[in-house]
Amino acid sequence: MNKKNLKFEILDFKLILMALLVSACSSNSKNPDTNSVKFKQYYVKGEELYLKHCSNCHQATGTGLGLVYPPLNTSDYMENNFESVLCLMKYGMKGEVIVNGKSFSQPMPGVFELTDLEIAEIATYIYNTWDHQRGLVDVTEASRVMDSCVAIPN
Ligand code: HEC
Repeated sequence: MNKKNLKFEILDFKLILMALLVSACSSNSKNPDTNSVKFKQYYVKGEELYLKHCSNCHQATGTGLGLVYPPLNTSDYMENNFESVLCLMKYGMKGEVIVNGKSFSQPMPGVFELTDLEIAEIATYIYNTWDHQRGLVDVTEASRVMDSCVAIPN
């Protein structure tokens, strides 16, 4: 084999490697992080906490209840207000809220004892179940949001 051919073979090999890498990355990009051990730990703990603190009202299936408890399974409010959702878990929510075009106005009591890690776990659960595919909500992200909660009205 002469030098020129060898060069081409190496180039070919590099191209194949690149193609493999690109396809591996793009198949993950739709669902970031959901294969990691960390994601699974957060998700499992988050489900447990959701069933303990939230499902009484919002139901285990996330459908909510009539016009009293708003839904989480499909919720434009959740999609558009990520930071407020983290805050309201701990501090509660009052006043009118429109979810998927329906009005809700019962006050929601906050669960004040939740730690930033528990908020991150519940958020990882509710934002990756039903219609939602957000990926891991890390505790560092949750802490950053929780530090800003006072600035949010309600
Ligand atoms: C006692 C019943 C009750 C519990 C327990 C409760 N919620 Fe709520 N939740 C409500 C009500 C009522 C509202 C609407 C508040 C309003 O109208 O201002 C609401 C609103 C919300 C919203 C915004 C609206 C929507 O549907 O997207 C989210 C998100 C939410 N709750 C998540 C949670 C999570 C997560 C927990 C557990 C940490 C939880 N809630 C616990 C009753 C409850």
